[in-house]
This record gives sequence, C-alpha cells and structure tokens, in this order.
Amino acid sequence: MLHVNHINAFYGKIQALWDISLNVHEAEVVALVGANGAGKTTLVNTISGLLRPTSGLIEFLGKRVDDLKSHSIVELGMSHIPEGRMLFPNMSVRENLEMGAYTKRVWKNKHKTLEQVYDLFPVLRARQRQLARTLSGGEQQMVAMGRGLMSNPKLCIIDEPSCGLAPIIVQEMFGIIGSLRSQGIAIFLIEQNVQQTLEIANRAYVLENGRLILEGNSQDLIQEEMIKKAYLGL
Ligand SMILES: Nc1ncnc2c1ncn2[C@@H]1O[C@H](COP(=O)(O)OP(=O)(O)OP(=O)(O)O)[C@@H](O)[C@H]1O
Ligand SMILES: [Mg+2]
Repeated sequence: MLHVNHINAFYGKIQALWDISLNVHEAEVVALVGANGAGKTTLVNTISGLLRPTSGLIEFLGKRVDDLKSHSIVELGMSHIPEGRMLFPNMSVRENLEMGAYTKRVWKNKHKTLEQVYDLFPVLRARQRQLARTLSGGEQQMVAMGRGLMSNPKLCIIDEPSCGLAPIIVQEMFGIIGSLRSQGIAIFLIEQNVQQTLEIANRAYVLENGRLILEGNSQDLIQEEMIKKAYLGL
C-alpha cells in the first residue's frame, strides 16, 4: 500500500535521506529502527507530507502523494502519530481526539469513531474532559494514538510511541499495536525498543546516517550479528 522509491531529502544544503526505497503492504507491521539522529523522523515526515523529497517518488494506495499536502494524505487514509505526541496542551482529551477527525471523509462519523477510540483506551473515556497537559505520559501517548485513529486510517505511522514510558505501559502500547493490525490497519513503527519491536513486526528496515543498510523479515533480523550487537546488546 505504501511504496517509497529512491527518495532523497535535505535540510538546507545538508542531505538527510539518501536514496531510500521501502514498502509497506496491507495489514503488515513494518518496523524502522536506527540510532538517534539516523533520520527516522525525517523519513516519516517526508512520507506524511511534512517535508518534501528533492527527488524520488512516494505512492500510497496507488496514488502519487509526494506532491500532496499533509491533510490530503490523511484524507487518503494515512495517519501520522508524531514523535513527542504533539498534543494541544490546553484542550481537553475529547477536543484533542476530535482534532483528528477534521477531514471530510470522517467528520460525519466522528461520534462513532470516538466511541471506538474510547473502547480501545477506556481511561480516555473517563478523562475526556481533563486538559491534555495534566495527563500522565502514558495517557498522553494514548491521546496521540487515539487522535491518529480518529481519521480512520488504513496505514498508521507511529514515531516512538514508547518513548519515556514505564515498561508496563510500553507492554500495553505493543498490545494496542497488535490489535490495530488484527483490525486490518497497516503499521509503520519507529521504535528504540528493538527486541519487542522485532517480535511484533513482520518486517523491518534499519536506517543508519540517512541510508537503509539492512532489511528483512523480523525473525531473520533478530539472528543478524549486526542487529544483536548494535540494538539488542547481545
Ligand atoms: N529541522 C531540521 N533542520 C536541520 N536538521 C535537522 C532538522 N531535523 C532533523 N535534522 C537533522 O537530521 C538528522 C536526522 O534527524 P531525525 O530527527 O530524523 O533522526 P531520528 O532518527 O528520528 O532520531 P531520534 O531517534 O533521536 O528521534 C539529524 O542529524 C538532525 O540533526
Ligand atoms: Mg526521531
């Protein structure tokens, strides 16, 4: 459903992405791993239309999207849950969630979708009137994920959902990601938690200094010496 073909991207004169090609198929969990500063966020920002590649092609569901604005890409069914959550701190949980449903395609069904999000994250139903800034880190991540789901996506790009969270909440996050896949939503997941990510993902790509250096089935990558040394501490 997502095809990235030979893209290059720059910040000013500095090249951040070098000839990146990757695919995500329907209902797949695909992981992107790499050290701090490797370019993971840059890559997903380019896919979701926040940055423009200088060359190459990005297709989503058979449509070229690298020249579209972000909101049009969301309308097509791609949702980007950004690094650092990016909530509206002085708005309530419910208002934050509703901000995810602003596209024409989903606005009319927003009450139904909101109920589905509350079923997935019951704590958010209980806290729907609370200001986002007063939530715990785990609850804030749930709002970010819930907001991303309000656009009824076919593909969710999730940038470091477990960052800064306690292990038990991280476990919960991975559980939710698994349940999204069983609902038929494809996931492109960026994570520092490489062991757990490879256990849940079908396939993975490894990014280093803006270049993809390795790709394959997660089960094969877990056995790779380079992955063991660099990411699994073995
Ligand atoms: N807005 C920007 N302007 C200039 N350089 C940037 C900008 N954003 C990121 N960079 C640079 O691009 C490179 C890749 O950054 P990016 O945030 O994509 O890495 P990352 O893999 O997501 O890292 P992390 O794991 O820390 O989130 C880094 O060298 C960073 O300094
Ligand atoms: Mg990042």
